[in-house]
Amino acid sequence: MFNTVNQHCLDSIVTLSKNRPVSADDDIFDDRGNKLWARGQHISSGLQEKLVRRKLARPLESTLTVEGALTFADVIDDCRKLAAKQSLLERIEAKASAFSLIDDLRNIAIPGPLRLLLTAVREQHHNSYRHMLACMVISAGIAEQAKLDDHDVKVLMLSALLHDLGEMYINPDYVRSSRQLNCMEWKHVASHPRIGQLLVQELTSLPPAVGLCILQHHRRLDGSGYPHFDGHLSPHHLAALLAIADTAAGICARTKSGAVSRIALALKVVPEEYDRKYVSALLVALGDETESIECDEPDCGCHDKAVEIAHRIAAAIRVAEASQQQGTTPFSRELAGNIRGILSNLEKSMRSAGVLEANRLDSLDQDPALLNEIRVAVAELEWRLRDLARNTFVRAEIKGAQELRELTGLILALDAEALGHPAGEQAPPQA
Ligand SMILES: [Fe+2]
Ligand SMILES: [Fe+2]
Repeated sequence: MFNTVNQHCLDSIVTLSKNRPVSADDDIFDDRGNKLWARGQHISSGLQEKLVRRKLARPLESTLTVEGALTFADVIDDCRKLAAKQSLLERIEAKASAFSLIDDLRNIAIPGPLRLLLTAVREQHHNSYRHMLACMVISAGIAEQAKLDDHDVKVLMLSALLHDLGEMYINPDYVRSSRQLNCMEWKHVASHPRIGQLLVQELTSLPPAVGLCILQHHRRLDGSGYPHFDGHLSPHHLAALLAIADTAAGICARTKSGAVSRIALALKVVPEEYDRKYVSALLVALGDETESIECDEPDCGCHDKAVEIAHRIAAAIRVAEASQQQGTTPFSRELAGNIRGILSNLEKSMRSAGVLEANRLDSLDQDPALLNEIRVAVAELEWRLRDLARNTFVRAEIKGAQELRELTGLILALDAEALGHPAGEQAPPQA
């Protein structure tokens, strides 16, 4: 994959070269033997025109060296600095000896191509870099509580550092968009775990488990998430741990107060999604919190929204059941069946949140903390419907036109807006 130059990655490397020298440590040839760039020559924007969409004899990432490239020791120092600034990460540092796990890895050599890419992320994409560090610190907190052995800790820390590096190969307008992406845009973003795995597999000799953890960090134990895996196979146990750290790090970055309670809620609202023992390990590492959850949209019309989500789940279950029976390919029937199972879990979660009992809601006005908690739970469930819609689209679209046609009604029932349709739109009856 990496012999064809990726425009977005090349843009980042050229931008990096404006701040620190990046040079070719070997002559760069295309796949027909034409010399494009001489060894030792510094990278400049002239390289962009020569290389973009060209097939090279060797991946560009393996040919370039950046001066002062990031080392694992730099990463550890940055983890410490971040923990000193973010109270949630500081809790891990203060409570557990998690940092000694990371410190022990100070001398790990990061492979050259990845050092180049990580240096670019550190200099250009500060939020992404902070997210990688937060994932490492949180993973270390879980690893320490779960008493992982040295080999697993090493695999986990490398995976946490590298898990989103594949995003460098995707249009930054999609990766860093603050708006909701539609299904076609989402398809690009959803490829980052696979690209990350290929980076490790094709450009380094790191253990295959690192690539596997990167591939599976958005998978959930109930079969939701992406990329899809055979429902009979569980993700690698360290990928299940990394998925928890990734979710927690995301919440940590966007939540001003009550982060621990919010993390606990996100990881427990659908109990089938995350590995219980690692969730417990994280909550022990984070310790108790007295601050209550804050809702991003306090006036969201909690009860109406909850009723709407409950109806949407019930309607999607009916469509999934119909698709399971009427699908003309084994793929359509199996996927509809999987989604049916995931929706049942969401329905159970909805009921256990107790939000549908209108009488109870009236009394909740007296308890703002609990009301906020319910609001956030409803938002979490709504988010899962969108994710399910987009991931169903990606899987069906890759499979074929027939499958996509047959599953469009289900995608619309899950979240019509993900397909760019008005909310609540239904599929026309199939001919
Ligand atoms: Fe990711
Ligand atoms: Fe991530």
